[in-house]
Amino acid sequence: MTPRRIIAQTSRRLFTRRGLFITFIIFIWFLFHHLPAPPPTKNNTRADRPPPVHQVEDKARFLYRSSFRNNPAIQYEKRLSWALERIEKTVLAQNQQNNIAEHRIWQIAKDEKHRGEDSIIFQHKNKEWAYTLVNDNKALEFVTNELSAISEIATIYKSYPHNILRADFLRYLLVWYYGGFYADIDVFPARTIKTCPALEPFFASPSDKYTEHIHPNASLVVGIEVDEPYASPQFMRDWHWTRSYGLIQYTVYAPRRFSPLLRETIVRVIAHTIQYNDGRTGFFHSLAYDEKAILGITGPDVFTDAILETLSSSLPETHPFVEQSVHADEDIGDLIDAETGEVRKRVTWAPFHRLRDPVCIEAGEAVPGESMGGLCVLPISVWGNGQRHSEAGGFNHPNACVNHRFGRTWKKGWWEYIFG
Ligand SMILES: *[C@@H]1O[C@H](CO)[C@@H](O)[C@H](O)[C@H]1NC(C)=O
Repeated sequence: MTPRRIIAQTSRRLFTRRGLFITFIIFIWFLFHHLPAPPPTKNNTRADRPPPVHQVEDKARFLYRSSFRNNPAIQYEKRLSWALERIEKTVLAQNQQNNIAEHRIWQIAKDEKHRGEDSIIFQHKNKEWAYTLVNDNKALEFVTNELSAISEIATIYKSYPHNILRADFLRYLLVWYYGGFYADIDVFPARTIKTCPALEPFFASPSDKYTEHIHPNASLVVGIEVDEPYASPQFMRDWHWTRSYGLIQYTVYAPRRFSPLLRETIVRVIAHTIQYNDGRTGFFHSLAYDEKAILGITGPDVFTDAILETLSSSLPETHPFVEQSVHADEDIGDLIDAETGEVRKRVTWAPFHRLRDPVCIEAGEAVPGESMGGLCVLPISVWGNGQRHSEAGGFNHPNACVNHRFGRTWKKGWWEYIFG
């Protein structure tokens, strides 16, 4: 057959009914996978609408198990963790052991053009903070130069087929290595960082006689994104959740460098990526990394789990968080070991459910020989406001310090943009 006849035949086939149907499917598939992010909404007022009726259940769930933890590569993860610690030791030795982070805002965007208005306002409103926009080139330099001691970091970073995976991984690396304040470029500053009431203890002046008592010895500050432990399976499907609680990673503050909680997150991102890639054949490579995989490999799921599990392994069994978790589990039984019947003492979501005020665990509360670097958790209204679940409060909530314009995130992007 000559090429011309093949083309003629192909186009004739295209116009049969079946051909049309197939073309339509391909078109829909193309739309689904290649649609750009929805246009920015100026102010997502929809988020302040009254919440829809949510289906809830009688029993709460304060514990989920990631499928990536069914068979983790424990030895490999340990070696990675040690390698990261070696980077920490080298850097701290060059800095007189000072791990206090510079007041610097980190944001990630392809380049200056892709920043958008919120990001520019964020920088200008916080003038006393240094500012770095990490574009694609800077990101590549950072992972290949500063972190050259662990070659997997750059290899994995470059291997990701989606921006979202790279941006997730990069924020953990930046905030672990440098400390400082990270925010996505669609985060609007409802207040400046230093006038955020929930962060006040971190910026109290040294002359303040209470400073010693109120300054938490913590290397990481996180917010709450989802807090619906009673959510029904349908409720969770409606919101595309894999678990009914979770921490925010679109805004993160690290008052000190090298938070062990971020170190553990980085270890897991690398290990989960390798695990995921090992379990796939090459053919569908470019279609891989569905929503659930992204959440568990680089997204809020891995971040939340790494933090809760590091608290579990580093806090003493008598710690109030462990006791609250065990107590909340009495009617649920998730913590009972199926084989031995014993209660596994660990930290679940229970201590963070319906949190009204910031809560901090100081670095020194860990058992000897373990480190978690201290953690503060902010109530959902501070960074997670403007959502129609979890009693998040509106964008104008008195606690609100940032407003995240959820309406144009990749997850529900176009759907939410069109249907609200
Ligand atoms: C913070 O906690 C760490 C670990 O317990 C300790 O080594 C350090 O001295 C503490 N720093 C301050 C300022 O209290």
